[in-house]
Amino acid sequence: MQRRQVLRLASACAAGSAVTLPVFAKATADPWLAEFQQAQAHLPWTLGYRTPAGDFAGASAQVSGHFPAAVQGVLFRNGPAIHDMGGRRYQHWFDGDGMVQRYAITATGVTHSGKVVRTPKFVEEQAAGKRLLEAFGSKWLDSRPVTGPDAFNAANTSVLAVNGELLALWEGGSAFTMDPRTLDTRGAKVWSPETRGVPFSAHPRVDTNGTVWNFGVSALSDMLVLYEIGPDAKLRRAQPVRTPHTSYVHDFAITERHLVFLLPPLVLERGRIHDGHSFVDSHVWRPELGMRVLVVDKADFSRQHWLELPAGFMFHLGNAWEDTQGVIRVDYVHAATPDVLYGTDRALMRGQMWPRPQYHIATALLDPARGKASQELLPMQAEFPRIDPRLTGRRHSHLFHATQSQPTHPGFSAVARTAVETGQTDMYSYGADHMVEEHLFIPEPGTSPGGAGWVLGTALDLKQRCTVLACFRADRLADGPVALAKLPYALPLGLHATFMPA
Ligand SMILES: [Fe+2]
Repeated sequence: MQRRQVLRLASACAAGSAVTLPVFAKATADPWLAEFQQAQAHLPWTLGYRTPAGDFAGASAQVSGHFPAAVQGVLFRNGPAIHDMGGRRYQHWFDGDGMVQRYAITATGVTHSGKVVRTPKFVEEQAAGKRLLEAFGSKWLDSRPVTGPDAFNAANTSVLAVNGELLALWEGGSAFTMDPRTLDTRGAKVWSPETRGVPFSAHPRVDTNGTVWNFGVSALSDMLVLYEIGPDAKLRRAQPVRTPHTSYVHDFAITERHLVFLLPPLVLERGRIHDGHSFVDSHVWRPELGMRVLVVDKADFSRQHWLELPAGFMFHLGNAWEDTQGVIRVDYVHAATPDVLYGTDRALMRGQMWPRPQYHIATALLDPARGKASQELLPMQAEFPRIDPRLTGRRHSHLFHATQSQPTHPGFSAVARTAVETGQTDMYSYGADHMVEEHLFIPEPGTSPGGAGWVLGTALDLKQRCTVLACFRADRLADGPVALAKLPYALPLGLHATFMPA
């Protein structure tokens, strides 16, 4: 099959035909919405999963301390926000229409604005005043069949800045271009005519030379589509790679010479889509398959190595690098099962707590030449791992991540810096009444990779019912923030961020 045909196949519909759904019939009231509304009265953490009344036009934060020059610029964040519409509530956290948050940080203050990404799906549903389409984890009797990945693209997962362009990312379809100043949606990003509508994941990796590497999972055809994009935002290559089955792959890593994929044994069974299951519920946990590891040569995507690690689940990888012998070290956030995806991230939508997630840092050793792979688990709980971006694909020593789960709410309440070789950790706890979001490492200009920098991130203060933006000295997290900006309102909890310096 020609590459063009294969790529076209990747943009075809994974959930194409009309189905009969074994879910609740024409209910007059949505039980998920009713349960969530009841929980709001006594569970403070539900604040993070409410649907905001609309866009945030712009507000000044109350700032204490001083944001250093290195972090003056704009922090963009993305996450699911519009969970309810027309009296119906989504049944999975990852379903909500994406809202991009914009924190403009200057020497004199911080201002915030936020806007829902105007995907075709959101625009049509908003005009109708109700949900029309199924989502990643929700499907109703009257959901209209989707005609391709972008038909239910929520653009709700991450943001990428390339060549001055701001993209809102989802993992199953196209990126959407946003105006970085106004947050107006300009439209779906088309990298080339033949990749129009082909999935472009929410976790691209930006090489130290500015090259953007990414992948997309083609749910219909057991393929990963690999992308190489220049620093000028022009597509250099897009090429499909066959996989033994379609796994839930959310993230990947790069080294100087390779792309590294971990394929957890959460496998799509396409027949389940046609039996009426949502996209996520059409995946089946099959630990007997182990975790397949795919190492692809950056210079020639046809040069591939397949390895195997013990079965496990992950959303996020930290970083990968390879030594002079070609042995690759990769760290990722390991869970024994995908319970968070099916338990926590569903239950919270109806205001329920699920047992606390057990996510830990794993460091894996991959030896493609000898076909060997092994891993160790560190005791530290973690999610949203980030590194000094100057070390992407190079040897790194530390991960910056959220940690410290709480019995009183989902998610985490602290930010930490963990040495991946020793497991030693420095952390700052916001307190049990905070829910911590992703924190980025921002390098101090003029310093060398792995050197000085700042940690910049957000948290939801459940007691004061507001979102805060904090900046820390990266090597002294425990000292607490050097600057803290308090918004006059609470934002919905989101996922990933990017920073554009001033
Ligand atoms: Fe992610």
